[in-house]
Amino acid sequence: MKVQLAITWTVGILVTAGVIIVAAQAGQPGPVTQTEKPVAASTIALPAATDVKPATKFQPPSDLDMPKDEFGKTVQLGKNIFEHTSSYASKYTGPTNLRCASCHLDAGRLADSAPLWAAYVSYPAYRSKNKHVNTYSERMQGCFKFSMNGKAPPLGDPVLIALESYSYWLATGATIDPKIAGRGYPKVPKPPLAMDYARGQLVFEQNCAVCHGADGAGQADANGQPNFPALWGSKSFNWGAGMGSIKNAVGFIKANMPLGLGGTLSDQQAWDVAIFMDSHERPQDPRFQGDIAATRAKYHDSSDSMYGTVVNGQLLGKGTTSANNPTPGMK
Ligand code: HEC
Ligand code: HEC
Repeated sequence: MKVQLAITWTVGILVTAGVIIVAAQAGQPGPVTQTEKPVAASTIALPAATDVKPATKFQPPSDLDMPKDEFGKTVQLGKNIFEHTSSYASKYTGPTNLRCASCHLDAGRLADSAPLWAAYVSYPAYRSKNKHVNTYSERMQGCFKFSMNGKAPPLGDPVLIALESYSYWLATGATIDPKIAGRGYPKVPKPPLAMDYARGQLVFEQNCAVCHGADGAGQADANGQPNFPALWGSKSFNWGAGMGSIKNAVGFIKANMPLGLGGTLSDQQAWDVAIFMDSHERPQDPRFQGDIAATRAKYHDSSDSMYGTVVNGQLLGKGTTSANNPTPGMK
């Protein structure tokens, strides 16, 4: 058990360096030795000169190719906001320890982790969540308000312009196509057994708590910088967020978690841990109608949301409070 955890940590650290992808594809999720260069990835993923067309996914440009002109500065600012959201867009972040890149991994580049290049080529689009056609900027406003539990920057705000510039640049060469491969989080088939909170708790304790904390509140590094984001509680995403939808959560978790070991949980484990995570209290849905039942009826009336249901004798949806966020939800 101890050994397993140690490996998970090593892998987690390697992924930050962008190296583990190679090891995972080679089927050896262990420490990568000096001799294995990341270049090997293309050899492994794309066997050359073959009749079978490999299912490749779009590759965004390298950071090294980021333009050096005025436009490039705005692209770089967008990347900074995406990776250090609370520092670069502090006006619009709530009491969170998440950043945009917490859920859009590899600074918004990673396929199957709702990458920005795939998002950029998919808007304007109709969203059932707010029942009208959303521009790309409006879509990003939603992630500020719900996923970051913050405030939506007004349209035209430099923060949104920088994020849009970064997304546009990442999408260089991509086709306008809302069905582009790698968009969003993968759909995970329903598991053989009904989702189960108790089994999910076990999956969490064995595979997630080491990084996200036994209480799900995340962890900060020695300098107080959050490096493991909160899965629930006052610093996490709020009840209105996409990650509060169990099918989104299961897709993200199955593809990407434990960090560096994506794809290793069974479908059953992924569904169980997703329902466990989404059955904990978190900041109130900013669309709160003053009444949990009414809010559930209006926004959460599906088996995909635990809001307004009773789990272990507790009614979910009361919301958490904190010094910065004394009333449920921010406007
Ligand atoms: C708690 C996790 C989380 C955080 C933090 C987060 N997002 Fe998201 N984001 C999601 C989820 C879930 C979706 C919905 C994906 C889907 O529907 O396939 C999403 C969707 C998006 C989309 C649309 C993707 C598409 O393909 O349609 C964009 C753009 C986006 N987020 C930008 C941002 C930005 C900018 C930030 C930071 C301000 C951010 N997100 C923070 C979870 C998060
Ligand atoms: C090796 C450490 C590690 C382990 C183990 C791990 N995670 Fe994560 N997880 C992270 C990091 C780091 C991020 C944020 C990525 C970033 O900021 O680049 C993250 C992000 C997330 C997010 C999106 C952000 C949020 O806080 O909501 C969810 C959900 C999540 N992990 C769930 C899980 C689950 C469920 C497990 C267990 C099956 C798990 N993680 C195991 C390190 C880990």
